[in-house]
Amino acid sequence: MVMPATFAGLGFQSDPTAHQPIYLQLTVALSDAIRAGRIAVGARLPSERLYAQYLGVSRTTVTAAYHELKAMGLVRGYVGRGAVVIADDPDRAPAGTVPWALLASRLARPAQPSSTATDPALISFGDGWLHPSLTPSAALAAAAATAVEDPQVLIEAAQIFGLPVLREALIDVLRANGVRTTLSEVLITGGAQQGLNVVARALISPGDAVVCESPTWHGAFRAFRAAGAEVAGVAMDREGVDPDALEDALVRLRPKFVYLIPTFHCPTGRLLSLERRRRILEICARFRTPIVESHVYGDIVFGERLPSLKGLDAAGIVIHQGSASKTISPALRLGWLVAPRAVMNLLASAKASLDLSTPALTQAVLNGFLRSGAYARHLPPFRAELQARRDALLAALAVHCPDLRCVAPQGGLYLWAQLPKPLRAHEVEAAAAYEGVSVRGGEAFLPDGGTSSHIRLCYAAPALDEIAAGAQRLGKALRTLRQRHGDPAARAASFASV
Ligand SMILES: Cc1ncc(COP(=O)(O)O)c(C=O)c1O
Repeated sequence: MVMPATFAGLGFQSDPTAHQPIYLQLTVALSDAIRAGRIAVGARLPSERLYAQYLGVSRTTVTAAYHELKAMGLVRGYVGRGAVVIADDPDRAPAGTVPWALLASRLARPAQPSSTATDPALISFGDGWLHPSLTPSAALAAAAATAVEDPQVLIEAAQIFGLPVLREALIDVLRANGVRTTLSEVLITGGAQQGLNVVARALISPGDAVVCESPTWHGAFRAFRAAGAEVAGVAMDREGVDPDALEDALVRLRPKFVYLIPTFHCPTGRLLSLERRRRILEICARFRTPIVESHVYGDIVFGERLPSLKGLDAAGIVIHQGSASKTISPALRLGWLVAPRAVMNLLASAKASLDLSTPALTQAVLNGFLRSGAYARHLPPFRAELQARRDALLAALAVHCPDLRCVAPQGGLYLWAQLPKPLRAHEVEAAAAYEGVSVRGGEAFLPDGGTSSHIRLCYAAPALDEIAAGAQRLGKALRTLRQRHGDPAARAASFASV
């Protein structure tokens, strides 16, 4: 099938650097064309699969755009006929349809839907989750069975700071990692992600600057922006964030705090060198600027272990955060903040305003898991399994994607792969999804927007025996894209022949 002239003629170009996610850009382009009569009432929209391939976006992007058009009352889905334009004016659309995504605030940029969530046949390198075989399920089940037998756990809401027994158990884990702390400096959160929102709510006033690495975990800059911050990224190289560039950003922007992931950074997998850790602490202490240190990948170490910023923090400027999601199970939704006592009351009141306290039940499960020694037993085989997956992925990429350039990470969950020119990450993400493998385009992690020539591959998410097939599919996607870039006629031909 050839793309109908009406849709080919729209000339839609996605802009990954724009504030709006791509599916909303497409929604706006299509709804404008419908209102202007360029797409007539009664016209059939192209199938999601074909349109996605034609536009070089993921299928979930087109699905989401069609969903919005339906919510606006401009389009209706018919069994056997697909999506059809039924009105050219939302005011004349049937009542009761609210275009929620278009109403979203500027700060709360909606997330692009994840393709793996909607297509179980995809081999997933895209999301930062653990494959079920990596989760210590038997020990967690035992801890859960014990936790539900404790009537106290079932009837009481936990304190704002979290269950004292769990905080004590975490203090032991932290001590083993070189962080000395006390009960009054530990706050349990609903995952590390809530920890970021707690910090944001406690410290950010609208218009404040926050500085972070670029690229970085997108959940962080979303949380900071939602609290009204202007977020600016600082460049990284292979050793992590550049201290000179960071100092420059402190001089220029005077940020409220700096957010860093020094240990097996997301998305690059990099480890900030010890020398840079010391320099950055010195610089931030001089500027009296707190550091929010994400240590959520800190225990997933294959080789050299470096002290965390918190472990080196003589000045008391670091708020350190951890999580059970990356090493035990994301289903617990548990994280923790370890902060200087002077800021704890601010964090506690922000936490209380969000959800009063973290569920006592999952806290009791994690407490039982840690105290039974299961975590200490889990970590060595878990690390070995992840290292084997990393090696399997590197080996498969060398065979199937020889044009990708990557450095073997020494821990964490991610491989950060540089694409051959002129490929862009967002088009590789879409082409890979079309071939049945999900990867995360680097654009998602850029706090300042822009295009990216990197993709993130999570080797923890697929089954071990799917890794080679996933790399093979990715290789096919890369070859198809290069062909299209090299030869515009090949692009037209590939659509004419579908
Ligand atoms: C750096 C970082 N922080 C926080 C999170 C979210 O963690 P949690 O599941 O504990 O909320 C992620 C998830 O990928 C992450 O990479």
